[in-house]
Amino acid sequence: MVRENPCKTGAVNIHYHSYDAVIVGAGGAGMRAAIETAGKMRTAVITKLYPTRSHTGAAQGGMCAALSNVEEDYWEWHAFDTVKGSDYLGDQDAIDVMCREAIDAVVDLEHFGLPFSRTPDGKIDQRRFGGHTRNHGEAPVRRACYAADRTGHMILQTLYQRCVASGVNFFNEFQVFDVLFEGEGEDRRAAGVVAYEMATGDLHVFASKGVLFATGGFGRIFQISSNAHTLTGDGPALLFARGIPLEDMEFYQFHPTGIYGIGILLTEGARGEGGILRNGLGERFMERVAPTVKDLAPRDMVSRAIHAEIREGRGAGPNKDYVYLDLTHLPPEQIDAKLPDISGFVRTYLGLEPKTDPIPIQPTAHYAMGGIPTNVNGEVVIDSAGTVLPGLYAAGECACVSVHGANRLGTNSLLDINVFGRRGGRRMAEYVAGVDHPSVGKEAAGDVRDRIEQIKASNGKEKVAALRAELQQAMMRDASVVRTAESLENASRVLAELRERYRDISIDDKGSVFNFDLTEAIELGSLLDLAGTLLAGAMARNESRGAHWRDDYPVRDDANWMKHTLAYREPDGTVRLEYKPVVGGRYQPMERKY
Ligand code: FUM
Repeated sequence: MVRENPCKTGAVNIHYHSYDAVIVGAGGAGMRAAIETAGKMRTAVITKLYPTRSHTGAAQGGMCAALSNVEEDYWEWHAFDTVKGSDYLGDQDAIDVMCREAIDAVVDLEHFGLPFSRTPDGKIDQRRFGGHTRNHGEAPVRRACYAADRTGHMILQTLYQRCVASGVNFFNEFQVFDVLFEGEGEDRRAAGVVAYEMATGDLHVFASKGVLFATGGFGRIFQISSNAHTLTGDGPALLFARGIPLEDMEFYQFHPTGIYGIGILLTEGARGEGGILRNGLGERFMERVAPTVKDLAPRDMVSRAIHAEIREGRGAGPNKDYVYLDLTHLPPEQIDAKLPDISGFVRTYLGLEPKTDPIPIQPTAHYAMGGIPTNVNGEVVIDSAGTVLPGLYAAGECACVSVHGANRLGTNSLLDINVFGRRGGRRMAEYVAGVDHPSVGKEAAGDVRDRIEQIKASNGKEKVAALRAELQQAMMRDASVVRTAESLENASRVLAELRERYRDISIDDKGSVFNFDLTEAIELGSLLDLAGTLLAGAMARNESRGAHWRDDYPVRDDANWMKHTLAYREPDGTVRLEYKPVVGGRYQPMERKY
């Protein structure tokens, strides 16, 4: 790592770095973008974790592409499924790009050395996944390329090795707390970021011609989540604070099969391999809900079906508050070969044997369909007209292209990070080649330094962990799989109170070395802001679409709501909503039946 001219400003050392391209986040999208810029320009990847601990590593079941390796398939079928799965909120131009480029994206990974699971004749094997069908819904199709049940882990390791070989400069355990701009109005452009070095408490100004955010999701606004504790929406939150809108934040996906009580993911690939969901009476309830694809219906439908089983008294366990994932009928050698990691999770966290015991599961907060608005080249757009903010890019879960619309299909996330990470990196490389270096200096760290000093100096009576727990409980109870105006108002009341109390937080650790008390305090601010955008969008949207289910408006309303939400932060901290049209295409909206 190159350190230039540390200087003492108040209690905090501030360092200055100059790069052409800065990428924030070292998951799949960030590293895929870095591969496009490394070697061509000075590239830094800044990450609050070690890259190989990024959350892409927790993705299990697969990455889809219509390779036709085991069954007839076409990228147009994949696009149809994605549009239908999105409940017609996905932009069809972007979906076409993703599904067409999926095939190259898989081939790229194979050439980078990813050890995919194989067919007996040596091709990349493919398995079934929810909502992926042949011939526009006829039957499930084998489209997900996979590496046992650790596909994301393998992608992460493969991309990391490629980045290291390409000479990417990693700044590990650096957390970005601000984005820098220069110029005004139409001349405004991204100019870098300010990062906090966890090991020392020093601040670092990274002046850069291009900045790409790939910071992942924010599942930690909910109590039960498959997301790591680090997924606090840092990128979207700090851009939102600087006036960038967030798109479609009301659409938050609950994955049907989280381990009961803790939310750790048990891959949909388990149902792709033949696993079955059963209620407390032993019934295969998905047969009623989705007669054609059954347990392989899209996630919004399966999560709602589980919710209904529990609400109607057919749950399992002493409180009848979970259902079962049943793998006991699968050949033991299939479980060993295809589902080794989740088998280990079940043994470790539940003390059960998946070959012989049904597994208690419940829907778990998994994936944000919404995020930082971008076009198909990863450029951040700041209004309904698609105006690009020069030099600013986003890719992966923190971005909203929008290819997932109101409900993402499983395996389209690992695909999204590869396709749009690559596109964003390429477009940033082109842009960077044609612009001057920005003129920001160390003084740009002032706002972050003041914020840190203010938190450390506070004697307030509120504690971060308590506020976070109250937020997570309220969001889980009132704004998760099923919502109503009343439940959303409840959550909004709790949120308003928490915001007020957040102004009175204090931390116990006043030090500089790995001060998680401090970083968690800042992250809580992000979670509160993002929860606010989710609730505002959800309260306004008086319809049910994809993952946004309103019991008081249980019908999709295309006449009034076939549009994307843009949430802007007002100076007083409230949220203002605007809307922009969905990009249509070949597929006309129809009732979603499976
Ligand atoms: O179920 C899973 O393996 C998750 C995949 C995804 O979210 O795409």
